[in-house]
Parts: sequence; C-alpha cells; structure tokens
Amino acid sequence: MYQHQAEIVDASIKRAKERCNANQLALQMMTTFFQHFPETAEIFAPFDLNKVSLIKFCKVGDALLDAVKHPDYSVTATEEELYRHLTYNVRDTGYYFGLIDAYVATIQTALGNEWTSAENEAWQDTVAGMRFNINQASQQL
Ligand code: HEM
Repeated sequence: MYQHQAEIVDASIKRAKERCNANQLALQMMTTFFQHFPETAEIFAPFDLNKVSLIKFCKVGDALLDAVKHPDYSVTATEEELYRHLTYNVRDTGYYFGLIDAYVATIQTALGNEWTSAENEAWQDTVAGMRFNINQASQQL
C-alpha cells in the first residue's frame, strides 16, 4: 500500500516539474511559506534565496518520499534534520509543518485540474507520515 502511495506522490512531483520548472516551483513554495510565516524571513536572511530555495524544495520532496516509502525507519533521518536545523535556530515544529504544506500546495497548484482524488489521498497519507516523524523527532531534541 505504501509503495503504491509512494509511486503516486513521486509521479505527481515529476509531472509538476514538467509543467513548471523546478526553480519556479521552489520560489513558489518559499513565497507561500513566507506568506504564512513572515517572521521566518529572518532565518533565511543570511542566505541567497535564489540559490537555497531549489535545494530546500528538493530536500523537502525527498524527505516526504522517504516518509511514505520507509514509514518504519524514516524517523531517524528526520531526527538528524531537526538536530541540524538547530544551527539555524529552527525549533518550532509548526515551521516544518508549514513548509511541508507549502510544498504540497505548490505541487497541487502546478497540476491544476489534473490533480486526482487518488493523489489527494496519497499526499494526505504522506503528509500525515511526515508529521508523525517530525513529532517523534522533536521529542528527541
Ligand atoms: C521537512 C522539512 C525540511 C527539510 C527536509 C530540510 C532540509 C534541509 C537540508 C537538507 C538543508 C541543507 C542543504 C544543504 O545541503 O546545503 C537545509 C538547510 C537549511 N534549512 Fe531546512 N529543511 C526543512 C525545513 C526547514 C524549515 C522549516 C526552515 C526554517 C523555517 C529551514 C531552514 C533552513 C536553513 C536556513 C538552511 C540553510 C540554508 C540552506 O542551505 O538552505 N528548513 N534544510
């Protein structure tokens, strides 16, 4: 079942990248994120957003795919990520949830009316898995 969900999620990311280029999607994700969490602009201030957005977009996608492909052990990678982000003073799990939601909204918007109910379900499960990982990981900090 998880494998099927992972295939759907993977395919929709690839289709979104065919519709819009990855840089555009990455900037859209960050714009949506900053609209909801304007105070986080300060965290990104030392970095060139044009450069880091694409990396962030790819890494968030990888983390989501990891969560749905390996629900049994992907929490370990999430723990490492949360630990590493303490360096940037990112402590609030709400920010992680917000960035993930911005990622999914970006993919959904790129696909427009091609977005199917199967995709909706697969993404909801994937996000739930990632949220679980983040909640678990945050308890280890
Ligand atoms: C699931 C969510 C997230 C994942 C998977 C993730 C992943 C990563 C990774 C892998 C890097 C290192 C990039 C590199 O190799 O150079 C990074 C850097 C960084 N992250 Fe995140 N991150 C997430 C959420 C967040 C959030 C919520 C914030 C801030 C509110 C944040 C702020 C930063 C900053 C400031 C950097 C350094 C600049 C950069 O290299 O992009 N991250 N993140």
